[in-house]
Amino acid sequence: MSQIEQAVAQHYTTGALTERVRAALEASGIDPDAATVADLKAGDEFHTGGVLATDNLFAQLGPTHATRVLDVGCGIGGTSRYVVDRYDSTVTGIDLTPELVETATALSDLVGHSDKSSFHVGSALNMPVPDAGFDLAVMLHVGMNIEDKAGLFGEVARTLATGGTFGLFDVMRGEVAGQLDFPLPWSTVADTSFVDAPEVYRDAATAAGLELVTETDRTDFAVKFFEDVFARLAENGPPPLGIHLMMGETAPEKFQNYVKNLKTGRIRPTEMIFKKTG
Ligand SMILES: C[S@@+](CC[C@H](N)C(=O)[O-])C[C@H]1O[C@@H](n2cnc3c(N)ncnc32)[C@H](O)[C@@H]1O
Repeated sequence: MSQIEQAVAQHYTTGALTERVRAALEASGIDPDAATVADLKAGDEFHTGGVLATDNLFAQLGPTHATRVLDVGCGIGGTSRYVVDRYDSTVTGIDLTPELVETATALSDLVGHSDKSSFHVGSALNMPVPDAGFDLAVMLHVGMNIEDKAGLFGEVARTLATGGTFGLFDVMRGEVAGQLDFPLPWSTVADTSFVDAPEVYRDAATAAGLELVTETDRTDFAVKFFEDVFARLAENGPPPLGIHLMMGETAPEKFQNYVKNLKTGRIRPTEMIFKKTG
């Protein structure tokens, strides 16, 4: 693991996460041992818009029970459980942070997905999976921690079978230049944040032999989503189960800074879908 990767994994390690998720479920009135995929949704999709964003992306990807899915930077496996539950696909999740992989495995075991999914510690730049072993790779809010976009796209392209699809949803640079406000959900400091413009992604994809199919600016969706979140917080306070469990004590500041960067046009949550044609 590189020094940057170590620092990134450290950022995402908050301690005793599985126990805290179980406790949050209990505090929400849910028996953790009887929790469903839907019960976990409030706290297991660590990206802008949560499951609403996952819905939007997967509606365009349309996997089936026969699709072999790779979840790059899977976190605690929310998206992986979504795709097993919704489409009955088989999923392999890879993530840098051991604690998140441990929690992903525990939660997927809990909901009875152990025969359809597996989670492994590894870098997106060197994934412990075979060449051409997947029909669909997805990556939600991971590229902001990876400087080497060319290496990332090259590695994803290696894992895809010909005709395979890569769908991603990342926070990219917006039209407005300038330093970002930190801390942010993916990084406390600028040193481990690599937010790039959409063209950096497009160029890296082209070099890796991936053809752009669609690109969607999700700024309006993100603004609306956070307006709703802040309105609910003002009324009810934070719910026991939420992605704040993975964000440490500075979670409120990270959310505020995200919205500040978003509303000033310095960041742009963006979906992209690519095909491996060759
Ligand atoms: C904001 S979270 C998103 C997690 C998940 N994709 C989701 O949407 O719930 C970013 C994740 O990327 C992982 N990550 C960051 N850099 C990575 C790398 N180089 N290789 C693999 N995973 C990485 C982190 O450990 C973390 O789990």
